[in-house]
Amino acid sequence: MNTLELIRSRRSVRTFDGRALSEEDREKILIYARKTENPYDIPMEWYMLSQERHHLSTPVIVGADTYIAGKISRIPHAEEAFGYTFEKVVLYAQSMGIGSTWIAGTMDRGAFERAVSLKDGEVMPCVSPLGYPAGKMSLRETMMRKGIKADKRLPFEQLFFKGTFATPIAEADAGDYHDLLEMVRWSPSAVNKQPWRIVIDGRNVHFFEKKSGGYDENGWDIQKIDMGIALSHFILGLEEKQRTAEFVIEPPQIALPQDTVYTATLILSE
Ligand SMILES: Cc1cc2nc3c(=O)[nH]c(=O)nc-3n(C[C@H](O)[C@H](O)[C@H](O)COP(=O)(O)O)c2cc1C
Repeated sequence: MNTLELIRSRRSVRTFDGRALSEEDREKILIYARKTENPYDIPMEWYMLSQERHHLSTPVIVGADTYIAGKISRIPHAEEAFGYTFEKVVLYAQSMGIGSTWIAGTMDRGAFERAVSLKDGEVMPCVSPLGYPAGKMSLRETMMRKGIKADKRLPFEQLFFKGTFATPIAEADAGDYHDLLEMVRWSPSAVNKQPWRIVIDGRNVHFFEKKSGGYDENGWDIQKIDMGIALSHFILGLEEKQRTAEFVIEPPQIALPQDTVYTATLILSE
């Protein structure tokens, strides 16, 4: 399976078959998570938790006992770094046939934070169940997916632009960038809001966040996690093409649409 197929094969899995995650799968994922880095060079700590032993509850998840949780220092760019790293782990699990769901809201947060011994200055933004997907989704999961149109994404021309935000890129005109942009487009995001916007200017690929409102509270912006996810998909795509890029945070001088803020730039090598 190539990276685009892997990304397209992932969906949030909220109904599992009830089998415990095997010890071997658990170890493999934990080892992978602990060695995964991010372009922000912000370290993370990882935990494998048991719903039963740690008294966890997540109302939307059925049939899984294992949860993976990560925590990170509450410093600038922690959100993007967390999103980037956690998504790589999600995709690694997916490559092993293990289902997951990013969860930031629908959980007993206090119980999870106690289980990872969260301290001042740290944050545990999201957790995910890990397990083997059930053959059939629960009614609740089916309804939830419909409600947030989870099987759909915005079209290319609303997300991707050439030179400035005035020139949208249609899917048919994406050329060499087509698959990389398609990988970004199919990223998961909180409430499927898809905040990522990209402006391609020569070899510079600028990432921006279109803020939806209501997701940026007390200096913590959950949509920046989505931006980290989008970055991870693009970089995974580049790695597959054996292309390298320099990661910089240097806002370009271009006019921004309303509620749009700069995230980062990838400068692709020749
Ligand atoms: C940062 C983040 C937080 C999320 N929080 C929740 C959550 O609390 N509960 C939930 O059921 N799904 C949550 N999701 C899953 C999204 O709803 C889901 O990714 C999106 O609707 C797209 O569907 P898909 O993952 O099946 O492609 C979250 C996703 C992200 C990226």
